[in-house]
Amino acid sequence: MNEIYSEEELKNLPFMNESLELEKRVEDLLSRLTLAEKFKLCAGRMMWHTKPIKRLGIKSFTMYDGPHGVRPDTMGEKRSTYFPVAICRAATWDLMLSYEFGKAIAEETRELGAHMLLAPGINIQRTPMNGRTFEYQTEDPYLNKHLAIATVKGVQSQRIAACVKHFACNNQETNRFTESSEVDERTLQEIYLPAFKATVQKADAWSFMTCYNKVNGIYGSENYNLLRKRLMDEWGFRGFAVSDWNATAYTNTGGCVRAGLSLEMPTAKKYSKSELTKAFENGEFTLEDLDENIRRLLRVMFLVGLFDDQSKLPKGCRNTPEHQQLARKIAEDGIVLLKNEGDLLPLDINKVNKLAVIGPNANFRLGEADIWSGGGSSQNFPPYEISPLDGLKHKCKNKVEIIEDPSLADITIIFAGLNHNNGMDAEGEDKKELGLPSEQVNLIKNAIQKNANTIVVLISGSPVAMDDWIEQVPSVVEAWYGGMEAGTALANVLFGDVNPSGKLTMTFPKKLSDSPAHNSERSYPGGDKVFYDEGIFVGYRHFDTNGIDPLFPFGYGLSYTTFAYNNLTINKKKINADDTIKVSVDITNTGDRVGKEIVQLYVNDIESSVERPQKELKGFKKVELKPDQTETIVFELNKDDFSYYNPVENSWVVEKGWFKILVGSSSRTIHLEGEIEFS
Ligand code: BGC
Repeated sequence: MNEIYSEEELKNLPFMNESLELEKRVEDLLSRLTLAEKFKLCAGRMMWHTKPIKRLGIKSFTMYDGPHGVRPDTMGEKRSTYFPVAICRAATWDLMLSYEFGKAIAEETRELGAHMLLAPGINIQRTPMNGRTFEYQTEDPYLNKHLAIATVKGVQSQRIAACVKHFACNNQETNRFTESSEVDERTLQEIYLPAFKATVQKADAWSFMTCYNKVNGIYGSENYNLLRKRLMDEWGFRGFAVSDWNATAYTNTGGCVRAGLSLEMPTAKKYSKSELTKAFENGEFTLEDLDENIRRLLRVMFLVGLFDDQSKLPKGCRNTPEHQQLARKIAEDGIVLLKNEGDLLPLDINKVNKLAVIGPNANFRLGEADIWSGGGSSQNFPPYEISPLDGLKHKCKNKVEIIEDPSLADITIIFAGLNHNNGMDAEGEDKKELGLPSEQVNLIKNAIQKNANTIVVLISGSPVAMDDWIEQVPSVVEAWYGGMEAGTALANVLFGDVNPSGKLTMTFPKKLSDSPAHNSERSYPGGDKVFYDEGIFVGYRHFDTNGIDPLFPFGYGLSYTTFAYNNLTINKKKINADDTIKVSVDITNTGDRVGKEIVQLYVNDIESSVERPQKELKGFKKVELKPDQTETIVFELNKDDFSYYNPVENSWVVEKGWFKILVGSSSRTIHLEGEIEFS
């Protein structure tokens, strides 16, 4: 203990030996730490780092935001690739793209000298009013899980730790520092926890960030039930828990240590030397509790290579053409064609003479000066940004004249939507309204009077209501915040170089009161408590089961081509709990251009002793087809796909009887149905 080592001696200590087993290195280093050094490791310094311990050669472990690009500082001194926001990446339904994204952003993290990326954010999109909807992936737990696994695997393939956040039920910004999300056990198990659990069990996530809010009365950072019991003991998490920045404000030191919170960020408050000493001396936690927390942090330090020969670690790189192309590809594949009456789109570059480009988001850029301009902690600073107008100008050069007056144009494109100001798609506050700002509605209505060939392109990170204008507009596109290559991606889709294939991962409601969390004030915004009264009926589970027509359903998105669904075959009629069944279906491109279809499989329990949703997503496949080409898609299902969580028995249960298998192009467009019996 407390021995002073020469540099040479340090190099020869067992924990420095790269060929020694990980757990042996961890235990060796842990055994050499004094109590004071352990306390020192419990809290951060200077926003993004842990404190170094020189005596043992423990360098600072550095972690940077965030989900759409790496941001090492808040002034933009170091630039990095700005990828499309998470809701856009999710709309690609492409797991390989999520993996590639994770890998690329981890390469940038490494190049910037950090060891952990504060992403992905995987909270369920419970309400379209959440200011952070754009940072999250979807309302559906199954899709959420698969996207999260792919992203975490991509990040950690570079020996950079992913930090899965915000654990758990951080589903709104209103009162986020104090509210208690009141959620029943079945709903936690079926909706809010599956993706978190999967990142542990299927992707070995190395870190979890606790939430600001309470879950059933207890803050995330001191929630023994969530952290120690579920995450660590039940799920087998081997990484460490870090607090969200200042999320420990209203917690208790002993409670956090006992719950399993390893690291308090950004600086020591509850984990200051004096608070830790006091709590330890009062017997609020044991040395075993503390050691277990430190052990986890050290383990991740080894996993990311903090003690290893840096030249042998995966190489980092930043702002490469490959990363920029990946950003463009995600943006292209995430764009969702919502409406295209009369096939106004795609535009034919040889037929359009004058194109009017208007609207507040035509020149959308993140902005440069202000941290909040990117919507909060997911802000980043790209080396360049191609706005929608930039992208169109480039595409149209010498071929189409871009003007501003719809009455003089062949076609008008209005770039409407939201931005990252407070009260819109931004961290810290929820959205103020579901609709577009009234000036934009007026702009759309005026333009359509002057020019019937009007396309509305929405730049937003969450659903907006469209009821007051959509009937009059022939074509509508949801383009999200598409990152630094957004303009190129958009121009490619609008002019048909890329056939749109994105599908919504969150239901767009017609009006807010249709939305599941908006039944009463107690369920949203709530007060000290937010009651998740809708239970498992989140997203399309609510709309389907309660017979409410959405504006656009979950899983919806059009293409410039068409697809036919045929020959649903299920390889067994009857199955039991040990069986796997295969469901196959033929998808044919019946149009005249290459296109990608996202084929979705839903399950319905026809008769059940408990309430169950009409549909639950249990499979999806994305397939690219040439005109007339057919491909057979095969889904495999097992008992997990038919079960629900029984809180009385504390386990997942499949009930005997008949289940429907529904295959479609959205949650509301089911083309083929079959049935199987569980016996
Ligand atoms: C956010 C986190 C973020 C952290 C560090 C918090 O306000 O909730 O998502 O990673 O700040 O910037």
